[in-house]
Amino acid sequence: MITIVVPTYKEAGNITVLVRNVDDVMRAAELAYEMLIVDDNSPDEIIQVVASLQPEFPVRILLPSGRPRDLSLSVIDGIKAADSDRVLVMDADLSHPPQVIPAMVAKLDQDENSFVMGSRYMAGGSFDRDWSLWRFFNSHVATLLASPLTTSSDPMSGFFALNRQFVDVESLRPIGYKIGLELMVRGRFSGVSEVAIQFKDRTVGESKMNFGQQWKYLRHLRRLYLHRFKGWAEFVHYGAVGASGFVVDILFYYLFQYLGLGHQSARALSFWPAVSSNWALNRVTTFGERKRRPRTRQWLEFVGSSMIGFSLNWGIYYWLTSQVAFFDEFRLLALIGGIAGASLFNFAASTLFIYSEKRIG
Ligand code: GDD
Ligand code: MN
Repeated sequence: MITIVVPTYKEAGNITVLVRNVDDVMRAAELAYEMLIVDDNSPDEIIQVVASLQPEFPVRILLPSGRPRDLSLSVIDGIKAADSDRVLVMDADLSHPPQVIPAMVAKLDQDENSFVMGSRYMAGGSFDRDWSLWRFFNSHVATLLASPLTTSSDPMSGFFALNRQFVDVESLRPIGYKIGLELMVRGRFSGVSEVAIQFKDRTVGESKMNFGQQWKYLRHLRRLYLHRFKGWAEFVHYGAVGASGFVVDILFYYLFQYLGLGHQSARALSFWPAVSSNWALNRVTTFGERKRRPRTRQWLEFVGSSMIGFSLNWGIYYWLTSQVAFFDEFRLLALIGGIAGASLFNFAASTLFIYSEKRIG
C-alpha cells in the first residue's frame, strides 16, 4: 500500500483527469494505494470534485487550516496524515506522468531505505521543449547550487517516493517549494535512486512559481548547507561576503578618484564603505539567524577586527617573504598565506565574538 500525496491550490480543473490516470496505472500494475489531496483552501470547487470521485476511487481530501498557504507544509501535512508509511508525492497539474509510479514503487521494493526521485535530467528524462531560456537557466542554476547537498540529478523535482520511517517529520523546516530537497537532505536515506520522467507543462491553471519562490529557495539552501556543513558553510559564506567587499573597495577606490581625490586618499577612504558593507551583509546574511546586537558597537568591533585582520594579512606576507627564501621566490603564495591567516582570524573573531549571540530558534 502506498499513499499518493497531491498538494493542490486551484487545481479543480485537473484533479479528475489526474485521479483517473493514476487509477488506471495502479490497477494495471496491481498496486494498492490511496490518494490524499492536500488542498490549501482553494477558491474553487475542489471539495465537490473530490466528493464526486469518492464512490469510484480511493481518494480523500485534507484541508489544513491555521497556517499560511504553502506547498512544502502541505506535503508535510500529507506525509503525516498518510495511511501508509510509503508515500509518493506528485503535482496535480498533470506535469508528472503517472505511468512511472510502478517503477518508482519498484525502486522502493528494492531498497526501502532509499529516496526515489522522478528525474527530468537523467538519461531518458525530458522536459517540454518550449521552456524559455530563462526558465531553463533558472532550473539549472538552482540544480547546480544544490549539488553539494545531494547526488540527485534533479533535486528540484516535486515527484518523489519515500518511506516516512526514515524522516523525522517534526525536524523539517522547509521554506518555499523544494520539499523534495529538504527531505533528501534531512532524512536518513541510504541514497537517491532515480526514475526518468517526461515532464509536461501544465495546460490547465497556472504555475504558482514566482520570484518570491526563488528568493525563498536561496534561504532554504542556506539552511540546508548549515545543516549539512555546519561552521564550514558559515565560513564559505563569510568568504563570499569578504570577496564582495573587495569589489566594493575597488569601486569606491575609483569613484573617489573620479570625484577628484588623490589615489592615496581614495585608498584610505574606500576601506570604509567596503568594511561597512561586509559588516551589514554578515549581520543580515552570514549570521542572519543570530540575535542582532546594537549596531554602532558591533560595527566598531567589526572595523577593529578588520584592521587587526589586515595587519595580520600584511604581517604574514612581510614575515614570510623576509624570513623564508621559498616565499620570497613565490610571493603570490605569501600573499595567499596572508589572506588565509587574516580570513581565519576575522572569521573566528566574528563567529565567536562580534556576532556571537545565540541563534534564535
Ligand atoms: N496545498 C498547496 N499549497 N499546494 C500548492 C501550493 C500551495 O500553496 N502552491 C502550489 N501547489 C501545488 C499546485 O497546485 C501543484 O499541484 C503543485 O503544488 C506544483 O505547483 P505549480 O504551481 O504547478 O509549480 P511548478 O510547476 O512551477 O513547480 C513544480 O515543478 C518544480 C520543478 O520544476 C513543483 O513540482 C515544484 O515542487 C518543483 O520544484
Ligand atoms: Mn506545475
